[in-house]
Amino acid sequence: MKANSYSEDHLNGSECAYLDPETYRLTRLPVDKATTLIPDAYRSDDFHQLEAQRLWHRSWQCVGYVSQVREPGDVTVVSVGHDSLMIARDKTNEIHAFYNVCRHRGVKLLSKSTHCSVIRCPYHSWGYSLDGRLLGAPYFQGLDVPPQALERFRNRAEAEGDFCKEDHGLLPVRLDTWGGLLFVNLSGDARPLEEWLGDLPQRFCRYPLEELQLVRRKEYKIAANWKLVAENFMEYYHLPTVHPELCNVSGFDNHHRFQGPGMYTGMCTSPLTVDPETVRLDLPAFSGLNATEAESVYFIMLFPNIALWVFPNHLLTLLFRPEHTAITLEHMDMLVHPSILEDPDNEEQLDHIMEFWDLVNLQDVDIVQRVQQGLTSSAYQGGRMCYEFEEPVHRFQNMVIDRMLGIEHIPPGDA
Ligand code: FES
Repeated sequence: MKANSYSEDHLNGSECAYLDPETYRLTRLPVDKATTLIPDAYRSDDFHQLEAQRLWHRSWQCVGYVSQVREPGDVTVVSVGHDSLMIARDKTNEIHAFYNVCRHRGVKLLSKSTHCSVIRCPYHSWGYSLDGRLLGAPYFQGLDVPPQALERFRNRAEAEGDFCKEDHGLLPVRLDTWGGLLFVNLSGDARPLEEWLGDLPQRFCRYPLEELQLVRRKEYKIAANWKLVAENFMEYYHLPTVHPELCNVSGFDNHHRFQGPGMYTGMCTSPLTVDPETVRLDLPAFSGLNATEAESVYFIMLFPNIALWVFPNHLLTLLFRPEHTAITLEHMDMLVHPSILEDPDNEEQLDHIMEFWDLVNLQDVDIVQRVQQGLTSSAYQGGRMCYEFEEPVHRFQNMVIDRMLGIEHIPPGDA
């Protein structure tokens, strides 16, 4: 049995409905005829519980950046749903992911990120290597036992040969990387990450994503379901009313579709129209971009939990996870090329840019919280989608429905 496996044998009536294709009939229609996802998807605890297993557990979730485990011995602690995981780079430079739990009596091994050669349990001192092997279990014969204590503490199980440390290593989690991002898949059986990403690696092959460093982070606790956070990112219909300042930077009429195959929605602003009165984005550009990339910003919402703003000179990400049905925890991170950090004068500019994105994000936080409040209305049953602007929302909501129905479909891109 896999960790976190669960049973659907005792579903109640509403839970059964959430697994019935008929429940989603109106959202499955073509976008120009479709109605938005059922309101219960955003407000029902039963839906949230099913979604945790059927969607989150079986997806590739982004948990951070390869740069957080840059050196052998680096271990970073991340939360995925209600699980804590450790991402570790071992001495051979391989990166691993493990559940953050001791195989003995279940202690949470690390409370924060660290640098070490052995992960030592704070309870009875079992020690694990960074590739997950149990190295020592004190007072199990032959394992870390001081010779003078051997007789006194000899463990009968070990003496009789039924305790084998090879059977008690850290519990592994499937991990893969792309573009400097770390992804985990708890179920272990999602389609390969390269299929999940679709054509994104080709589309961003000229960007030095793997070299970027995390330089700024803001944290937000949002009183809204995670899907509202994601959906808000993928449409620009709301820009003139919610983001008047952003329209000076990322012009409403300069938005275009940018959609290939893969578990993502994409759009871009090209050309990027920066008003110096609003914000200065004048950091040195990444080298190697083509002419279009050098004057464009790309907005990628990679299902289910990371939004990427790919600028010519920095990367902004929104990395989020649901804490409860209507609570989402989010990081907004800024990453730049290390060469930018060589000039100390750029620090002030980084602060200035981050302040602007914080302003924009707080506007988004405010509006998605109001959507959440509206969705608690017993009268609202869903609304019609605006074809011109909300096709990405339709694409995303159908990805959600696919996962709820157990369909492992990866949508195609534009012809
Ligand atoms: Fe970890 Fe006992 S719980 S060594």
